[in-house]
Amino acid sequence: MNIKDYLQNRSALVDRALERWMPGEEVLPRSLHQAMRYSVFAGGKRLRPILMIAACESLGGHAGQVLHAACAMEMIHTYSLIHDDLPAMDDDDFRRGRPTNHKVYGEATAILAGDALLTEAFRILADAEANRSVPPATVIKVIELVARYAGSQGMVGGQVVDMESEGKEIDFPTLEYIHTHKTGGLILASVQVGALLGGANDSQVAAIKRFGGAAGLAFQVADDILDVVGDQQHLGKNVGSDQARGKATYPAQLGLDEAQQRADELCGIAISALAPLGKSAEILQELARYIVNRDS
Ligand code: IPE
Ligand code: IPE
Ligand code: MG
Ligand code: MG
Ligand code: MG
Repeated sequence: MNIKDYLQNRSALVDRALERWMPGEEVLPRSLHQAMRYSVFAGGKRLRPILMIAACESLGGHAGQVLHAACAMEMIHTYSLIHDDLPAMDDDDFRRGRPTNHKVYGEATAILAGDALLTEAFRILADAEANRSVPPATVIKVIELVARYAGSQGMVGGQVVDMESEGKEIDFPTLEYIHTHKTGGLILASVQVGALLGGANDSQVAAIKRFGGAAGLAFQVADDILDVVGDQQHLGKNVGSDQARGKATYPAQLGLDEAQQRADELCGIAISALAPLGKSAEILQELARYIVNRDS
């Protein structure tokens, strides 16, 4: 299957699973569930769930083993986007091709929709039925891992340093800290969870971790580049907002060409890390290329 078909097919699987796991619009309180669904079903790329599925499949597992966790990861990611767009943070009004959550539902509901998505994600990760064939120790490991990468020393920590760095000259290690934490972590967590639920052994997990670390950072470098050169309609979010807010980005610090070189280099590191997995990791290799060459 080529990468385009793979992305389409696995993203459709994820959407169907999200329908199953997300409370319906009619469930009380309706305004909250509508707001949660508004952002989740606005048509994101589903890249973190797809990476999780691909990691699991590269080890001989199948999508069904990780779909619940893939949905949980997409819900955590969507919560991070809703909060990232709030006036107190990036103050953006366009996301996934629609007005941002707070523009439609108001700030209070947008905050609470994010809170609920985060909390529901952990309910799903712990779901007994979804984990019926998973050893309990693995379930606990997955929950701990996701919490760590999403929490104060993970995504939330990265977001704090991102905000504190607005309009400031920061050094390269701080820039790398921001990117690996605010974005890289959830991507690294996604492939690690895919590997764990796919029954990977320690050396396979180690290879997947090296892949995820490089691919996760590459993803945010590409995001920074798209904020400069991307097409707003196509991206579904505002462009130029990083420069307007004085954000610490790779293009701002290195220039566009060097930022692209760094993204390509990270893509190479991610692909080399997959060597021990052999041919079964071909889709993960393609996903690494997609991460740095995408246009949305
Ligand atoms: C955007 O993520 C926010 C970042 C962490 C850079 P995506 O580019 O994956 O956004 P969606 O999920 O496709 O909307
Ligand atoms: C977002 O980084 C990271 C998280 C949402 C955790 P950005 O602020 O660069 O993401 P976009 O560009 O708004 O999607
Ligand atoms: Mg931001
Ligand atoms: Mg933002
Ligand atoms: Mg961005």
